[in-house]
Amino acid sequence: MRKKIVAGNWKMNLTLAEGEQLVNDILAAGINLPEDQAVVIAPPFPYVQKVKQLTRNYPGIFVAAQNCASEKSGAYTGEVSAAMLASVGIDYVILGHSERREYFSETNAQLAKKIDQVLANGLKPIFCCGEPLEVRQAETQNAYVAKQLEESLYHLDAEALKNVVIAYEPIWAIGTGLTASAQQAQDMHAFIRAQIAAKYGREAALGLSILYGGSAKPSNAAELFACPDVDGGLIGGASLVAADFTAIIKSL
Ligand code: PGA
Repeated sequence: MRKKIVAGNWKMNLTLAEGEQLVNDILAAGINLPEDQAVVIAPPFPYVQKVKQLTRNYPGIFVAAQNCASEKSGAYTGEVSAAMLASVGIDYVILGHSERREYFSETNAQLAKKIDQVLANGLKPIFCCGEPLEVRQAETQNAYVAKQLEESLYHLDAEALKNVVIAYEPIWAIGTGLTASAQQAQDMHAFIRAQIAAKYGREAALGLSILYGGSAKPSNAAELFACPDVDGGLIGGASLVAADFTAIIKSL
């Protein structure tokens, strides 16, 4: 059965000392994760090793990077490869976050290459998709998300797809305080699962974890996670506050 996952995306926030404090506070909250649940913490690159070290004795808690290079290695100043992340024990990589797409012009084709790098190095991509406000207003969000899936994921075979996690993040809900309603989230998640079923079969679709992201917080997490096709969340702002993040984890 698919895993339920709460992932915390710190984005470009916190010093190392603040990050350590946050992780220690989360661990001190005594989260007991059943077999089918996982927590993923995605700090900035310089802290990934430290967070891995702090969490290594906690089964069910994993560490993610927030991005990686689309190339394997070489003269790409400032880039971090999937192989480097694998070599320091990282488990997941967030790819295609809307901030990467918008501010760093990441395209679906480039993300397909990043997905390949991540999978080739034994890591799991958390692939973000989701539509901007004008697309939602035009009610064309399904076609928009279908294209993101097609252009970045559909070159994979069914075996590779088993290692992919999808995060649906409507851009109009990220950091805005506007959450998609549970119904809007469920509708899109069911649509994504149906698309995957059409391409890879029912079993692959049923095994796929699809997370919701966009102003998820303790007050709305339980309702979102209760939706049959919402398998957890990718949490930004609320992942920076230990009490909020742990409350969201407990909503699983
Ligand atoms: P938010 O961010 O929870 O602060 O809206 C979510 C995300 O960008 O992953």
